[in-house]
Amino acid sequence: MGPISRYSTRMSLSVPPYVAPETMDVLFSTAQISERVKAIGKQISEDYKGHSIVLIGVLKGAAIFLSDLARSIEVDNTFDFVAVSSYGRARVSSGAVKLIKDIDNPIEGKHVIIVEDILDTGLTLSYLRGLMLQHKPASLKIATCLDKPERRLVPIEADYVGFKIPNRFVIGYGMDYAERYRGVEDIRIFPETPPGH
Ligand code: IMP
Repeated sequence: MGPISRYSTRMSLSVPPYVAPETMDVLFSTAQISERVKAIGKQISEDYKGHSIVLIGVLKGAAIFLSDLARSIEVDNTFDFVAVSSYGRARVSSGAVKLIKDIDNPIEGKHVIIVEDILDTGLTLSYLRGLMLQHKPASLKIATCLDKPERRLVPIEADYVGFKIPNRFVIGYGMDYAERYRGVEDIRIFPETPPGH
């Protein structure tokens, strides 16, 4: 076997097959998502009336939720982003969380909301919460689009939750499987056994 075919064999083993999102069941439609995001935005606007807030999005999954949420918030706000090690191509958590990108601007004395796509085992958010508290913000809250309470390994709850969901793997609205499907507009259930496998 020459070097090219060996490379292609390795690639075919590591890259999961593409499953068309149209074949996946819709968990939340764009209308349902939009309604919940607007409601959370309204709640945040009431809770922080008269204050400025910093939204810290967790890349990459929360990017779309943050962009919609920010447009539903009526109080003065700025964005920052952090990136942490993610699941990669596996659908189970390794348990280890590593900071890949830190915040760009100081948050000391500021009202901060960490914006996440999914609160799952809780490992990511409890790590990030600890890290952000070291910067001494005036307050720190968590907003998550989805919450899978059944999967929690560490005790942590979000202050703002879009939807509580059962223990199913989902994609779309920023959420990926092996980096795919982030641009899918609604939230869909990734099949346990993809069709034809
Ligand atoms: P936690 O540290 O286990 O709470 O993991 C949270 C992160 O896992 C999320 O920010 C997602 O990136 C990822 N994750 C957990 N469940 C899913 C899912 O169903 N679809 C896509 N990503 C997920």
